[in-house]
Amino acid sequence: MTQLANKHILLGVTGSIAAYKAADLVRRLREAGAEVRVVMTEGAGEFVTPMTFQAVSGHPVHQDLLDADAEAAMGHIELARWADAIIVAPASADFLARLAQGRASDLLSTVCLAAERPLAVAPAMNTHMWTNPATVDNVRSLQQRGILLIGPDEGEQACGDVGAGRMSPPEQIVTRLADLFSTGSLTGKTVLITAGPTREAIDPVRYLSNHSSGKMGFSLAEAAVEAGARVILVSGPVNLAAPAHVERLEVISAQQMAAAVASRIDEADIFIATAAVADYRPSRARPEKIKKDQSHLTLELEKNPDILAGVKQQHPGVFCVGFAAETTDLERYARAKLEAKQLEMVVANQVGPAATDTDGTFGSETNALQVFWPGGEAHLPLASKAQLARQLIPVIVSRYEQRDRTAAGKGKIVKLNQASRPKI
Ligand code: PMT
Repeated sequence: MTQLANKHILLGVTGSIAAYKAADLVRRLREAGAEVRVVMTEGAGEFVTPMTFQAVSGHPVHQDLLDADAEAAMGHIELARWADAIIVAPASADFLARLAQGRASDLLSTVCLAAERPLAVAPAMNTHMWTNPATVDNVRSLQQRGILLIGPDEGEQACGDVGAGRMSPPEQIVTRLADLFSTGSLTGKTVLITAGPTREAIDPVRYLSNHSSGKMGFSLAEAAVEAGARVILVSGPVNLAAPAHVERLEVISAQQMAAAVASRIDEADIFIATAAVADYRPSRARPEKIKKDQSHLTLELEKNPDILAGVKQQHPGVFCVGFAAETTDLERYARAKLEAKQLEMVVANQVGPAATDTDGTFGSETNALQVFWPGGEAHLPLASKAQLARQLIPVIVSRYEQRDRTAAGKGKIVKLNQASRPKI
């Protein structure tokens, strides 16, 4: 979940038995890449100590509204300005009431009043307090002001009652917060992505393949979803779980990958080919295991279909992004592919022994990308593949929008009518 990377999340903790769950929430927010600061109310201190939150957040906890030391360092206005979003979890009935009234009676309520960023609350209280008309009115009023309500969940409560009032699980809160940062730049668009290696059968137990792990393609699928796209991911055999909200089609060989792409390309606005497709396959996959009784064995190979080139030829309206993995002359070969396949963009990465920074790129956690398009280029320096994917999607979107504007200016319709597209 990369929407939260480098985001400043201010967590308010109020007096509730669920306060202990807020420590896990801090941990998960940090795992998602967010920087977290914690503000505790006096009531929260009855359930969990500030030391707990200091340890998990890595920062001192803020508690007092009028604290000369805090004001000098980060007082209530600085905290309100610092936050990209505020989440109050757990939010007690008393805190919701104070928030609804616009009170500034302690540090947390004051920060919430001063902040101009998104505010979310995850209530936790006894079920009868939650259904009390006073709380119902307060929550309705908060929602009318645009405050995001997360939960509460139903179930057995610490007091023994059963019903709505349990704080939502931390992982759900993290997901809802991440949604606040979705960019939406690809809303309404469908992105088809190939990822991973292909395997070309030699016999029932052996194959030709390469070291692609699928990480680059899967990261791009996740980043495209975050940008609001519908994503179809055609993946060779890899050991990765599909990112949430991605439709995954699993294939083994290049021919299967070509068929899967052909079956869905009609739906795509953008095609991103990160897969390391085997260029050749054995002409004849033997039906039985080859015996090792000969001193030499010759395999005859034949060329696989070039999936990307086929898409561009037969679906010129689809915005095509190719990848180029090269051991030498990165830019020269990448530009040659851009030209030869008539792509809108090519993304080049160094592989093999020369790719020392990235530990070889294939299978590694990091990468560095050079992006080329007709008349321009961008360089994305060494970073995790997840971070690079989040940087690359805006580059693709910008070129995609530019192409549509140019085509509109010339009166050309870029996207072919679905029915008129030939199959690849
Ligand atoms: O999966 P990872 O471990 O994260 O590694 C990522 C990666 C190194 C595999 C990825 O970043 C990458 O560079 N993928 C393309 C590698 C490659 O095989 O490049 P190529 O030069 O052979 O192919 C050029 C382009 O044509 C690619 O977009 C490829 O997907 C496409 N192609 C190639 C051959 C073929 N038969 N069909 C294709 O569609």
